[in-house]
Amino acid sequence: MGFILKDLVGVVVLFVVSLVARLLSVVRLIFPAGKKSVSGEIVLITGAGSGLGRGMALSFARLGATIVAWDINKEANEATVQMIRQEGGKAFGFVCDCSKREDIYRAAQEVKDSVGHVTILVNNAGIVSGRKFLDCPDDLIQKTMDINTNAHFWTTKAFLPHMLKKKHGHLVSIASAAGLAGMSGLADYCTSKFGAVGFADSIRVRLHEVKQHGVHVTCVCPTYINTGMFTGAELREVAILETDQVVQQIVDAVLRNQFWLVLPRTVAILSGIQGMVPTFLADLAQKAINMHGSMDNFVGRQGNKKNSGRQGNKNSGRQGNKKKN
Ligand SMILES: NC(=O)c1ccc[n+]([C@@H]2O[C@H](COP(=O)([O-])OP(=O)(O)OC[C@H]3O[C@@H](n4cnc5c(N)ncnc54)[C@H](O)[C@@H]3O)[C@@H](O)[C@H]2O)c1
Repeated sequence: MGFILKDLVGVVVLFVVSLVARLLSVVRLIFPAGKKSVSGEIVLITGAGSGLGRGMALSFARLGATIVAWDINKEANEATVQMIRQEGGKAFGFVCDCSKREDIYRAAQEVKDSVGHVTILVNNAGIVSGRKFLDCPDDLIQKTMDINTNAHFWTTKAFLPHMLKKKHGHLVSIASAAGLAGMSGLADYCTSKFGAVGFADSIRVRLHEVKQHGVHVTCVCPTYINTGMFTGAELREVAILETDQVVQQIVDAVLRNQFWLVLPRTVAILSGIQGMVPTFLADLAQKAINMHGSMDNFVGRQGNKKNSGRQGNKNSGRQGNKKKN
């Protein structure tokens, strides 16, 4: 009986807290925080050769930031750098395999020596195997964790100390809505994105605790975007997000020092109620938007004729493998 009462109190408290949070976010919508300037900042973006990474690189450059573009794909990365330079912006490209800690530390040192200290770090590089857990080779699971999660540790270790010293900086984690709720057929990817979310939130809390109020964190959790990475995946009632719009919202969140950016907002509500309602109810809500069948027709970048080969993404796990199991 005591347990039931405690549970009930817990549910009521969570309900009130989430209601207040919702109200505050509505107030924020009406009266958004002011935007900071990123002119003169050094913005490092991993995975800058494609999709969100390229979009963010171009956007931050247009705002006067110096861009440090990292990617494993030399040509695609260089193309981003050239696009920025053609617009009159400042950009430097470095080939870096973010699945390898030593390569991250090597490239980080090169950046410090030749460009300067990074003030905004965007951990964006990511891969998806798109395979069912038991069918996914061990090394691909390991690689997914290395790029989508562990790389965030090493890049942060490389660049956060100087931000702390200067009491000025920003860490941006491009996670995913898959980092807020488990999804069928995406066990490795979800785990890696939960890791990215957990790391970003832990760092945010720590920075607050040690009163580093000049160093900010932004955690980005979108559903599917039309970059090509998730070609074929689809949700019901939730449209595939447009790359340009997501880029614009990420940049806006950074300029406003906003921590959470969950897109679309309905997903934020769904993930918020997860822990407050019985599991079967949360499952029902997720089924209503086909969350657990959303990967059934996934082909990924290699299955997308328009994009295939364009990025030459050596790490893209799935090669149009449509095997069902
Ligand atoms: N596309 C989506 O639907 C979606 C949804 C939510 C979150 N995300 C996340 O957004 C981020 C960007 O995704 P995107 O859609 O722009 O993907 P993308 O495939 O267009 O771009 C990813 C980039 O990362 C690079 N990359 C891959 N492995 C690398 C490595 N080992 N080292 C360095 N660079 C590497 C690729 O070459 C590519 O340029 C990823 O972290 C992804 O998980 C994407």
